[in-house]
Amino acid sequence: MKLHLAPMEGVVDFVLRDLLTGIGGIDQCVTEFIRVTSQLIPAKVIYHYCAELKSEGKTASGVPVLVQILGSDPQVMAENAAQIASLGAVGIDINFGCPAKTVNRHDGGAVLLKNPDRVFKVVEAVRKAVPKNIPVSGKIRLGFDQAEICVKNAEAVQAGGAQKLTVHCRTKMDMYKPPAYWHWIAKIKEVVSLPIIANGDIWGEAELLECKKVTGCNEFMIGRGALRDPFVFRRLKGLQVKQSHKDLLLPFFQMNSQRVSPSFAQARTKQLLRNFIGYDETYLRYFDDLKVITLPSDFAQRLSEL
Ligand SMILES: Cc1cc2nc3c(=O)[nH]c(=O)nc-3n(C[C@H](O)[C@H](O)[C@H](O)COP(=O)(O)O)c2cc1C
Repeated sequence: MKLHLAPMEGVVDFVLRDLLTGIGGIDQCVTEFIRVTSQLIPAKVIYHYCAELKSEGKTASGVPVLVQILGSDPQVMAENAAQIASLGAVGIDINFGCPAKTVNRHDGGAVLLKNPDRVFKVVEAVRKAVPKNIPVSGKIRLGFDQAEICVKNAEAVQAGGAQKLTVHCRTKMDMYKPPAYWHWIAKIKEVVSLPIIANGDIWGEAELLECKKVTGCNEFMIGRGALRDPFVFRRLKGLQVKQSHKDLLLPFFQMNSQRVSPSFAQARTKQLLRNFIGYDETYLRYFDDLKVITLPSDFAQRLSEL
């Protein structure tokens, strides 16, 4: 079984990947999406999204990180993918699932799922532009407003030459509403032979087992479940968990302070802590206590006393 940490824009950056892969149980990560419009993205920006490129595309714990791009112009996507590959990416993932209105209005993300031929053309162009030894993968939702089209889109990703496909089992219109419709992966598998990563609403062992049963998949991607419980990957792999959620907060704050700034660190630590409440309500007390602190130095002091 392989477990993937889901890409999450504004949340899963270099520091959180470092923290979560340091805990263990994760086999692969994906960067937040990098939006490709009409130009070649400067290398500086690519390194910002994937600082791991400076260490062979892997986190400090040795977990590979795919670079995710989002866009609709096959040619520009191909040129950017080639440049990202030349910077040392271990793989390129293409986002066909983003539901954000601004992204969709600018012809990117889930809007492409309305037309599988457009999905095919982007994947094909990117695959041709990237050296053969670097895998290209696609990440789709089931569709824009209808789920049935997932089969055609999965076929398009395969026909374009991708090596793998992640399916977030909801349409764009579903946004993040439960449930995730895992059974569509079984339908996709009737016609597509690509390895598939199942994604959507896997929070722990119960969902993972059910998802495995329904989809027959051996690879799973977890997003919000990893924020709620950073130890979920270890638990799912039957590894011992010796730390508690609380133990992660100060190191996370310090890593962010060092890398970005104390005020950024404070905001991101509050964001992470807020997610812990879904795992254990007692974190609400810590959150209420910490959320009102404004000075990062006071915040750090309070974290060290937890
Ligand atoms: C805050 C947030 C940001 C996200 N950003 C991305 C992204 O940059 N690229 C992407 O492919 N999916 C993105 N997603 C979707 C997740 O990767 C994942 O497909 C989705 O959350 C379903 O998985 P889950 O139920 O395990 O959270 C994002 C989701 C959330 C909640």
